[in-house]
Amino acid sequence: MKKSILITGVTSGIGKAIAEELLLDSNIQLFGIGRDRTKIQHLINNNVNFTFINFDLFQIDKVEGLFKEEFNDIKFSGFIHCAGIEETLPISLYTPEKVRSIFQINVFSAIELLRFLSKKKHSLDGASFILMSSVMGELGQAGKVGYCSSKAALLGVVKSLALELSKRVIRVNAVLPGIVNTPLTEKLFEQLDEENVRKIKSMHPIGIGEVSDVVGILMYLLSDKSKWVTGQNFKIDGGYSIQ
Ligand SMILES: NC(=O)c1ccc[n+]([C@@H]2O[C@H](COP(=O)([O-])OP(=O)(O)OC[C@H]3O[C@@H](n4cnc5c(N)ncnc54)[C@H](OP(=O)(O)O)[C@@H]3O)[C@@H](O)[C@H]2O)c1
Repeated sequence: MKKSILITGVTSGIGKAIAEELLLDSNIQLFGIGRDRTKIQHLINNNVNFTFINFDLFQIDKVEGLFKEEFNDIKFSGFIHCAGIEETLPISLYTPEKVRSIFQINVFSAIELLRFLSKKKHSLDGASFILMSSVMGELGQAGKVGYCSSKAALLGVVKSLALELSKRVIRVNAVLPGIVNTPLTEKLFEQLDEENVRKIKSMHPIGIGEVSDVVGILMYLLSDKSKWVTGQNFKIDGGYSIQ
């Protein structure tokens, strides 16, 4: 039987990279949530094992309908929440609306998807759920009150849910990357001057990462090789956090 895996943020960066890797395995049926399908049109066109779902994660109230309409007969064995947004702002500009919008995508949509994924109807015992946090979930950086707090919140979700779902041997873990070269990082670097970009890069002792550097840990956590691993935070950051 094919393994069904669900990924959010499938159209870009880390989500797209893990999707490309998973689609090499014909035993995997991949479901990917995103908005802009044009960014991965080649993956959609060339893979019969891939179903793209155009869904805006701001619409949390529509997640129930998503499971009824798209995933009614599917029991997932893996889930990776890669969708995420970032905004760098001084606290004086972090209005409740801005904080809510970051939490909506980074945290609340994940919890709502997990609410349905945790049901026996929608997941197999022994499944693996992975939430993409960030080193910023444990460390601080100026201008990142919304982002850091959202990524820290995911670590709480992971620990609590790992305990709650342990009776079904469903594992829940977080991956915490340092700076990885993706469109999200490009946007961040555009907001900074050259000196600050150089400084951020130099804070990663073995350099900033590429998406391929994050794929390995995700494959490990999805696989049975990690069947005794749950409730953990995996930093993968080129040494950023050891200083
Ligand atoms: N890159 C890094 O340096 C880094 C470091 C630490 C942690 N992370 C985390 O890793 C994850 C992936 O990052 P990335 O760099 O690969 O980001 P990215 O290239 O900017 O991709 C973000 C993804 O999120 C999706 N998304 C955003 N808003 C959405 C919405 N309202 N509804 C549905 N999907 C939405 C985007 O889909 P559409 O474009 O189709 O809307 C896109 O697929 C994020 O959670 C990020 O916080 C990244």
